[in-house]
Order: sequence, then structure tokens, then C-alpha cells
Amino acid sequence: MADQPTSPPKKLYIETVGCQMNVLDSELVVARLRDDGYELTDDIDQADAILYNTCSVRQHAEDKIYSALGRIKHLKRKKPDLAVGVLGCMAQKDQGQILRRAPHVDVVIGPGQLGRVPELIAKAKADAAPQMAVSLARNAGSRQHVTSSFDSYDADREPAVRPSPFQAYLRVMMGCDKFCTYCIVPSVRGPEQSRPPSEIVAEARLLAFQGVKEITLIGQTVNSYKHKEPDGRVARLSDLLERLHEIDGVERIKFITNFPNDMTDDLLQAVRDLPKVSRYIHVPAQSGCDLVLKRMKRMYTVSFYEEMLARLRETVPGASVSSDFIVGFCGETDESFDKTVGLVERSRFKNSFIFKYSPRTGTKADDLFPDDVPEEVKRRRNHVLLDLQTAISLEDNRAFIGRETTVLVEGPSRSTTRKEGWDGPDQLTGRTHCDRIVVFDGPEELTGRMARVKIENASAVTLFGRVVASPVASPA
Ligand code: 5AD
Ligand code: SF4
Repeated sequence: MADQPTSPPKKLYIETVGCQMNVLDSELVVARLRDDGYELTDDIDQADAILYNTCSVRQHAEDKIYSALGRIKHLKRKKPDLAVGVLGCMAQKDQGQILRRAPHVDVVIGPGQLGRVPELIAKAKADAAPQMAVSLARNAGSRQHVTSSFDSYDADREPAVRPSPFQAYLRVMMGCDKFCTYCIVPSVRGPEQSRPPSEIVAEARLLAFQGVKEITLIGQTVNSYKHKEPDGRVARLSDLLERLHEIDGVERIKFITNFPNDMTDDLLQAVRDLPKVSRYIHVPAQSGCDLVLKRMKRMYTVSFYEEMLARLRETVPGASVSSDFIVGFCGETDESFDKTVGLVERSRFKNSFIFKYSPRTGTKADDLFPDDVPEEVKRRRNHVLLDLQTAISLEDNRAFIGRETTVLVEGPSRSTTRKEGWDGPDQLTGRTHCDRIVVFDGPEELTGRMARVKIENASAVTLFGRVVASPVASPA
């Protein structure tokens, strides 16, 4: 009997920008499209579907997507069957505006509807009409707020788009209720919803079964996690960490991002007492000036933040802390900025992510306050803060020289092994238990394992060393 003719698999090109939520969302999309006969490609010219999973947090991220859409217009002319999609936060925020600015887009799909990507692509093709699926929004003055984000969350996992085969993100909550005045996230991702612990534990078991060693729990404000169990007890993030800690195969657990007000003692004690939990806490301060924090509606003062930091460091010795800052927020004077500089000087963060304020339509700050700090001043403050943080990071990293540390090996280091002309031994990269990046000499077979590394040198972002023993049983 003659072989049945089979159509070649359709090719999917997907680009993800923004936070870890988006990386995880792309896993779901790729998994669904694989079931629909697609396979991944890195070559955009070969693609049958080009998808952008987008971010709305800053204007810059949106501008990049509109230019990318402009650049692929010619592909669509050459290949009319090509499907082009805008997914995620920008889809939810801009909705029909995307189709007006880029009429060659076939699907616009918000973060709460990503499971429908295959169906909507097929419909766009069958009807020769663009399709849009976004969450319902309620009008709040000139603002639109998503009122329900996920009725149910079906985690469909796809190893190919993970950071590495043994590192995976795991969503513990969705949305955000904090409504900081500058932030678009609550409007596009909807209200805070915590997933039941049983679902999270089951997903972690599946990941461990697939070979994942490091799980990063993610939520917009992950430490606000709370789930009421049927017996009336409330499960907190610390309870979740305890349960996940018992899973064989999982060797390291991280959680991001934290809200300062919800940094409770039970959580800090869990980080201290559970050896698999990374001693690394990302807890954004955003500003070092009470007036600015108030205008941001962050709901804490600088002294509250510093007391929290002191409690954290006292409870979890050796913990490293990182932060986010926005410079040039509405009404930020030189004096307010100096206070932020003071906070960074005192806090000794492992690193800080520093952003220039970007007004977002649909946020309270955009409604209420003029964007009155000139771009030039924002840029200067950004540099000043970054230079200060870099000097602190370098000083703290240099204190590791001569010490031995345990590293979860992530794979070959791009910075050295791919450098042309490099003829030294293989260099690997990984992270310490407190999330510091280590580049060291060692065989590639160590990938995915714990290794003991002696630190011999340091830059502001990287520790350099060599393997002294591997693998080791538990982190230290
Ligand atoms: N402009 C600049 N930075 C922002 N962030 C959130 N919204 C804005 C905005 N409108 C930053 C905050 C947050 C990080 C993810 O992005 O620092 O912690
Ligand atoms: Fe945005 Fe504030 Fe929620 Fe973070 S806590 S996502 S900055 S609203």
C-alpha cells in the first residue's frame, strides 16, 4: 500500500519579551500549538506563524513590538497564509488599536485567553478575518480594569522554551491587587488569584519527573500568596515552600517577586529553615523618598522598608537581596532622588533593576500627575544609581574571593566559550544558593548538577572560579 501523503509540520516562530510570567505563558502557547501540528523554528523567514508575546510595563517594550510588526509586513505579502499574532499584555491593553496600526495582524490574544491560540489562528484563516480575544474590562473613569483574568488555569507545559531543561517557572498566583499608580499590570492581568496548593504541588511533581531541578515560583507579588483550603485553613507561601521542599528531584526553589509589606516572619523563617530554598529575595523598593512612595501608592515608608530589610537579614543570614527602582517618577525632585541614592547606599543590594519612569495610559499616575521630569534628568539619575549599585555589587562580590561555594550548573558560559579565539578549557556558568552568577572551568557533563567551586576573581555581576568537587548532596 502506498504511503499516505503527510503534510510537513507547520513552523512556529515565537518571540517573548517582558517578565517571567510571559516566558511561562509562551510555554503554554507552544505546547498548545505543538498539539496542533506546529514545531518551533528560529528562522522567521520559514515560519507559518509568527507570534509576539508582549509586555506593556514600559513604552519602549511596546515600541519594539510595533517596529517588529513593521519589519515582517513583507513576509506576509510573500506568504499570505502566514499567521501573525500579538499575545499577552499589549494585546489586552491596546486591543483593536493593534489591528488599526498593523492590519496584517491575524490574532490579538490577551494573557487570560492564551489557551485559545490554535483555535483563533484557525478561525482567522478560515474566515479571512482577524480574531481578538481579551478579558472583560470594567471602566473606572478613563481606566479599563480587567475584572476576571483566569476562570481556571490549565498549566500546559512545554520543556523546549524553558530557560534550560532543568530550570522551570511555576505560577502560584495570577494578577495583582496593589494598583501602584504607575503600573499597568493590575489593569491588564486582572485581580490577584492564588492557585490551590494541591495543583501547584502536582505541577511541581510533574516538573521534577521531567528532570527539572530548580523551580522558580512566580507571581506579581508572590509573597501575597494566600489560598483558603476546604477545611478553612489559609495556606501561605511558607506552607507552599514546605510542601514543595519534600519533592524528590527538586533541588532548589526560588520565588519572585515580593511586595515589602507582605514579607512575614513565617516566610523568612521558611527561607532560613528549608535548605532547598534559595537565600535570595527580590523585594522592590521603587524609591527612597516617602513623598514619591506615597504618590506611587506603595503603601509603605522608607523606614518600614529598611526595618523589613533588617528583619530579613537578621532572620536569614547570608541572604542576598535585590530591588527595583523607578527614577524620574512624577514630582521626583533632586532631593527625593538623593534619598533614593541614600537608600541604595545603605541597603547593599546584590543588584538593582533601574527603570526610567514611563507613563502608561490607563494608570492612575498618568491620569493624576504630569510626567514632569525631563528625559535628560531621568537618564542622568538612571546612570548615577546604576553606577552606585555597580560599585556596591563589585565590593560585595569581591568578598567571595578565596571562598568555596555551591553552584547549580546551568551549562556552557556564553561569555567565554563562544568568544572567538578562546582556547582555554570549557567554561561553565551557574548560580550560587544566593543567586550570584558564577563562571568557572569545568566539564560540560556537570550541567544540571551541583558543583563546589572555589572563587578566584569577581566582577560586579560575576564570580569566577574553578571546580573543587562535584556533585554535592545539598546546598550550602
Ligand atoms: N515605568 C517605569 N518602570 C515601571 N515599572 C512598572 N511600571 C513602570 C512604569 N510605568 C517597573 C517597576 C517594577 C518593574 C517590573 O517595572 O520597577 O517593579
Ligand atoms: Fe505593578 Fe505594584 Fe502590582 Fe508590582 S505590586 S505588579 S508594581 S501594581
